[in-house]
Amino acid sequence: MKDFNKILSRKDQSIRDVMNIINDSGEVKGSVIVDDDNRLLGVVTDGDIRRAILNKVDLETKIEKIMIKNPYVAKRDVSKREVFNVMKMKVLDFIPILDDSRKVVNVYTIQDLSKFENNIVELNELEDREVKSVLIIGGAGYTGSVLVRALLTEGYKVTVFDNLQFGDNSIRELKNNPNFKFIKGDIRDIQSLLEHIKDFDAVIHLAAIVGDAACNIDPENSETINLMSTRVIAEICKFRKIPRFIFASTCSVYGASDELLNEESEVNPLSIYAETKLKSEQAIQTLADKNFSPCIFRIATVFGPSPRMRFDLVVNLLTAKACKEKKITIFSGEQWRPNIHVEDLARAYIQCLKTPRYKIHNQIFNVGGNDSNYKIIDIGRIIKKLIPDAELIIYDDEFDKRDYKVDFTKIKNILGFEPQKKIEDGVQKIQAMFEQNADLDFTKKIYYNSKSYEIGTLKGLYFEA
Ligand SMILES: NC(=O)c1ccc[n+]([C@@H]2O[C@H](COP(=O)([O-])OP(=O)(O)OC[C@H]3O[C@@H](n4cnc5c(N)ncnc54)[C@H](O)[C@@H]3O)[C@@H](O)[C@H]2O)c1
Repeated sequence: MKDFNKILSRKDQSIRDVMNIINDSGEVKGSVIVDDDNRLLGVVTDGDIRRAILNKVDLETKIEKIMIKNPYVAKRDVSKREVFNVMKMKVLDFIPILDDSRKVVNVYTIQDLSKFENNIVELNELEDREVKSVLIIGGAGYTGSVLVRALLTEGYKVTVFDNLQFGDNSIRELKNNPNFKFIKGDIRDIQSLLEHIKDFDAVIHLAAIVGDAACNIDPENSETINLMSTRVIAEICKFRKIPRFIFASTCSVYGASDELLNEESEVNPLSIYAETKLKSEQAIQTLADKNFSPCIFRIATVFGPSPRMRFDLVVNLLTAKACKEKKITIFSGEQWRPNIHVEDLARAYIQCLKTPRYKIHNQIFNVGGNDSNYKIIDIGRIIKKLIPDAELIIYDDEFDKRDYKVDFTKIKNILGFEPQKKIEDGVQKIQAMFEQNADLDFTKKIYYNSKSYEIGTLKGLYFEA
């Protein structure tokens, strides 16, 4: 519910007061009774009140006399889909959502969750087959080119579909590998998608205009690529009965929040980029059925070296500046952000492909580790420790409003995934890159998604790095 507080009441309020609360809310046929700390005491439905009236209970009686003291409740980390299934089974109109101390943190109504109506599948109906062939859309990019190599090492047959926005350096050396195939294509080209998206066990969709700044350059085009093309791709996968589809979304869908955010938390996209990702998630999830198991990865900010390097990501950029300019420049730095090493991310994708379908079917996973939430300032300090001759400069100017800490318990529990690499590992590897290649110019536009797009790559040009 958008504002569940309006249906909360106290145990010493009268039945009449609670009837008014229910009438005023207009949304829920009941009320949730809490103590002064918002801990759950009980619930009452309009049916309970009707029964009390028929039994001639006085309307001035305290609500605690007729409330149900042990109602159905759900813990906040249970997926909305599971809650919906229970609500349907038990014919509940609403259900309080509790944290570990039994505080009410939300109330779901059956209307809130009815979007799951059309794609309830019996999880034991999902046929599973071993994943052998994988299509990576956007596989020539920063995270894709690391993932492709990890998949090849594990013996998968890998096809990359990419328009080579940033050139083909990242995959050129793979072209003679018998398990690797490359298709040059643009995800806006439906003909090409229809021709190539078939006969795979899994599709991992990474292609996008990536990042807030890049998406802001041409919002309409960002929406076409990030949202509309994604919908088409997911539809084709479903139509072609490709059982597994992993979508690369982002933790930025959470925007700014003081809470530790899990997959059930409120989302608050603060940019066009995050909005296109969130809308894509929603569009993809409505397509789930017994032949099609989408899975959403809300990925932390990635760091570490890749064959297609990006220096517009916080750890990579601050490390490059420390190495080359001897400066680590930070604006405010108090914002929290989760981080993940690019090789750990590749492991998470692979772990997902190996996990039985019923466990990942239409699930959202935050992808990262519970130790990987850092303030930007702390990332600066880690880099300073490893590159001590660089100066740490902090400006008191907060231009980036994204600020969130993310809970990665679900991916640990369901996929058994935990990151193995720390920020330090990424910093040291990037430091080594600069030591080995003194000519590496991290300021080149190709390393920055927004700068690359500014000079016309959207119109079909691309770089040979
Ligand atoms: N890197 C991160 O920190 C991060 C964090 C969260 C989520 N993600 C998501 O992961 C995915 C991959 O990110 P990345 O960092 O590897 O980005 P990237 O920009 O390096 O890679 C994107 C790839 O998609 C390709 N592409 C772009 N537009 C295309 C089009 N119209 N047709 C075909 N191919 C196209 C590009 O050529 C590129 O190879 C993205 O969807 C991104 O939103 C990344």
